[in-house]
Amino acid sequence: MRMNLLVTGGAGFIGSHFVLRHIEKYPDDTVIVLDKLTYAANKAFLDPVINRIRFAQGDIVDYELVSQLLDRYGIDAIVNFAAETHVDRSIKNAVPFLHANVLGVQSLIEACKAHPQVLLFHISTDEVYGDLKDGEAACKPEDPLRPSSPYAASKAAGDLLLRAAVRTFGTRIRISRCTNNYGPHQAQEKFIPTIIRHALKNEPIPVYAQGKNKRDWLFVTDHCDAIEMLLHQKEGDGEVFTISADEERENIEVVKAVLKILGKPESLISFVPDRPGHDWRYALDSSGLRTLGWKPAVHFDEGLRRTVEWYMKTQQNQKIQRSQRNGDGSSPEHS
Ligand SMILES: NC(=O)c1ccc[n+]([C@@H]2O[C@H](COP(=O)([O-])OP(=O)(O)OC[C@H]3O[C@@H](n4cnc5c(N)ncnc54)[C@H](O)[C@@H]3O)[C@@H](O)[C@H]2O)c1
Repeated sequence: MRMNLLVTGGAGFIGSHFVLRHIEKYPDDTVIVLDKLTYAANKAFLDPVINRIRFAQGDIVDYELVSQLLDRYGIDAIVNFAAETHVDRSIKNAVPFLHANVLGVQSLIEACKAHPQVLLFHISTDEVYGDLKDGEAACKPEDPLRPSSPYAASKAAGDLLLRAAVRTFGTRIRISRCTNNYGPHQAQEKFIPTIIRHALKNEPIPVYAQGKNKRDWLFVTDHCDAIEMLLHQKEGDGEVFTISADEERENIEVVKAVLKILGKPESLISFVPDRPGHDWRYALDSSGLRTLGWKPAVHFDEGLRRTVEWYMKTQQNQKIQRSQRNGDGSSPEHS
């Protein structure tokens, strides 16, 4: 069945992949992207489909704008990727996080009140559960929320507002919580892009503490495919779904794997003081999703290789563009 979708945060990392894949898979659907275009966004990621979508620059907190878009395009579902997402930034100043991740979610709920047919599909995170000790069972959808960072607390608050909206207003809501995503298009400051960027410049790679914290890695297109499946299935309103590829790695293992792909020495690793409140380990139980038919298609080694290649190519293109702008054929990095 064809759908009219409002994709919020569609110019960010995961949202841009979702839009590109959706248009390819469902060419008859109407896709509207609403994005504030923060530092994390890159509208150029949508260039391959820009003539097949509509793009609105704006803030999800503006519920009148959201409501107008719902009316104008007869929207069937909102897929909400819009958020402030970097934990370190939330430790420095959490106010923008409350704006986007709490007020923003409530604003979408407000807009949906007058449009009860609209499905609000919200992208949340494993970080709302707080951390696990080694050997503890992976978190299930209904496990208690025990966030550690201001980012995670703001995401948990958004999830609770959505839960309240199901009970109080009967809003059609589905929430998916996923593990760490990786792949092309991620903002430079995130963990894997940071490793690649520093390694390519032969600079020390900052790694918190001894790099023993564990994360569970999900290739971004596998995440998008899981969202598509959950979005399209008949059942699921009011439910929470947990998405994991079960690819748990110590951070230091990931750093070493990137260095190996790039042929760079491990001597570039530079341990730095730990992040305050740093979660030890995350793990999600994806058995529910696998029963529904989803399974990841991209193994970690393959996904990491593709990610590194994309950043290398992107950096190369940026150098060429910069040197063309300089008009002298030289790279500014070497001047
Ligand atoms: N990246 C991960 O590993 C990961 C893991 C779990 C969950 N998530 C969740 O997935 C979602 C997408 O994450 P991402 O990594 O693609 O984020 P991102 O930071 O790359 O992109 C976020 C996008 O939202 C937009 N945005 C921010 N505030 C907005 C606002 N108020 N109104 C409209 N647009 C706004 C930004 O401009 C950007 O395009 C987030 O909700 C995040 O919490 C991400």
